[in-house]
Amino acid sequence: MSTILEVTDLRKSYAGVHALDGVSFAVEAGSVTGLIGPNGSGKSTAIDCISGFQKRDGGRIVLAGNDISGQPAHHIARAGLMRTFQTVRIYERLSLRDNLAIATQQFDPATWVDEFFRTRRYRLAVDAAETRARQLVELIGLQRYYDVETGILSYGQKKLVALAAALMPHPKIVVLDEPVAGVNPSRIREIEVALAELNRAGETFLIVEHNVEFITNLCHQVIVLDQGRKLAEGTAHDIHHDPRVLEAYLGMTPEMAAAEMRGAA
Ligand SMILES: Nc1ncnc2c1ncn2[C@@H]1O[C@H](COP(=O)(O)OP(=O)(O)OP(=O)(O)O)[C@@H](O)[C@H]1O
Ligand SMILES: [Mg+2]
Repeated sequence: MSTILEVTDLRKSYAGVHALDGVSFAVEAGSVTGLIGPNGSGKSTAIDCISGFQKRDGGRIVLAGNDISGQPAHHIARAGLMRTFQTVRIYERLSLRDNLAIATQQFDPATWVDEFFRTRRYRLAVDAAETRARQLVELIGLQRYYDVETGILSYGQKKLVALAAALMPHPKIVVLDEPVAGVNPSRIREIEVALAELNRAGETFLIVEHNVEFITNLCHQVIVLDQGRKLAEGTAHDIHHDPRVLEAYLGMTPEMAAAEMRGAA
C-alpha cells in the first residue's frame, strides 16, 4: 500500500486555543481511515485545514506526492482531495442524474467553445461522465432514483448523493464530515454498505464520525484526537483496547477503562 495523504505537524489556534497542536498522520491509498475524538478535540479543524477551507498556522499536507499546504480549497479539489459537509449540499430540485452531471462540470476539460460546437472532446467528456455517474449510482444503491428529483429522497439518501457528487471527478481521496450525523438510525447501515462498496471499487476515504460502531465496521485504521493532539492510532480493535482512548473518548477513569477492557476481552 502507498500513502495517498500525509499530514505532518498540523497546527491551528483560534485566539489562543490550540485547536490543533502538531498533528501528524497518514492515509493509505485504498483505505478507509477514521478520525475520531471527543467534542472539541480538533477533528473538524483538521479536515477544514486539510481541504483548504481554513488557513492552517503550520504543518505540511502532501497529497499523492504534491505539497498542497496552504493552497485554496478549489486547488486542493483539483489536485484530487474532495470533501463532503456535515449538512447536505445538493440541488434538491434537480434529478440525481443532473446533480452528478453538474458535479463534473467544474473539473472537466471541455470548454464552452467545445460545448457550443458539440466537439468530439465535449461528447467524450459527457459520455465519460454519464458512465461514471451510472457506476456510482449503482454502488450507492440509488439506481431507482436516477431520474427523480433529489428533494424527495431521505436525508441519508441525500448524503449519498452528495458523496457520489464528490466522487464524480475521480478524486484520489474523499474526506467525509460526519456522514451519518442526523441520519435515521435505520438508514445508517445503507450508508455503511455504500461506503464499503465504493471502497471495494477502489475509493479512499477519510471519515470524521462520532458513531463508533460505524467507524469500527468500516475503518482499516483509526486515528484518535484529543485536545488537538493525536492520542492513538491503529485498527479499531487496537483503539477499543487502548485505555488512554477509553479514558479520553468515553470520559472513563483509568480504573473504569480497565474494567471495561476486562469486560471486552
Ligand atoms: N471558529 C472558531 N473560533 C474559535 N474557536 C474555535 C473555532 N472553531 C473551533 N474552535 C475551537 O477549537 C477546538 C477544536 O474544535 P473542532 O470544531 O475542530 O472540534 P471537533 O473535534 O470537530 O469537535 P466536535 O466533535 O464537537 O465537532 C475547540 O476548542 C473549539 O472550541
Ligand atoms: Mg466537528
